[in-house]
Amino acid sequence: MSAPQASVAVIGGSGFYEFLDDAREVEVETPYGAPAAPIAVGEVAGTPVAFLPRHGTGHAFPPHLINYRANLWALRSLGVRQVLAPCAVGGLRAEVAPGDLVVPDQLVDRTLGRVQSYVERGAVHVPFADPYCPTLSQALAAAEGVSLGGTMVVVEGPRFSTRAESQHYAAQGWTLINMTGHPEAVLARELRMCYSAVALVTDMDAGVESGEGVGQAEVFATFARNIDRLKGLLAGVVPYLPGPGAGCACASWADGIELPYEIPGG
Ligand code: ADE
Repeated sequence: MSAPQASVAVIGGSGFYEFLDDAREVEVETPYGAPAAPIAVGEVAGTPVAFLPRHGTGHAFPPHLINYRANLWALRSLGVRQVLAPCAVGGLRAEVAPGDLVVPDQLVDRTLGRVQSYVERGAVHVPFADPYCPTLSQALAAAEGVSLGGTMVVVEGPRFSTRAESQHYAAQGWTLINMTGHPEAVLARELRMCYSAVALVTDMDAGVESGEGVGQAEVFATFARNIDRLKGLLAGVVPYLPGPGAGCACASWADGIELPYEIPGG
């Protein structure tokens, strides 16, 4: 039986499985190894959707050890063109609070040594001034209770930031902090896919609050309390997404450029 195809994917935590109807699991191999887990392909209100838990089954892979290249490549090989990426973030400034849903419009990479490209030879330079697809971002932000805008700094993890680091990030004007948003977004761009993050604020980062600083229990508990809202948001948005390429250059940037990698599915 051939692998089922989907043009929309969600990369998220394992709690997202239940929002797919009639899901079938597909094992995918890529030139970069296996993705974090088999990919579930099912439907949301009749729209085929692929789902990949970015940390693997049972959270096997911490943020700094995720095989991001295999994850994005595997989705593309199933026909995916639009990726919605829910993630947990810390808040860096008082304008956000735990429980908020924010679609960031900018990203700062503060990871260390992650493999962040499929380009392994030649002179290909990927446009990334606007790291997120404007069309997907607007579709997500049109949902009730979701705000659009803000810079997400992505740190290496798995540790949280020191107070001084956190205060430094906030002083730059950055709003959100996370450990997985990079290199997901740029790898999607290299594969000519639309990509947008939707961030759930799970905590205020160490520099914002006095006291103990951030702990894992707080992050997981806030995420768990809000996962149904996040799933509802995605399920409400997916069936109404404009098709890939509508109002964005996420795929067309590479027109006429000879890429040094062959994108699966063309
Ligand atoms: N993910 C959720 N909260 C975070 C924080 N405070 N720092 C980095 N990543 C996070």
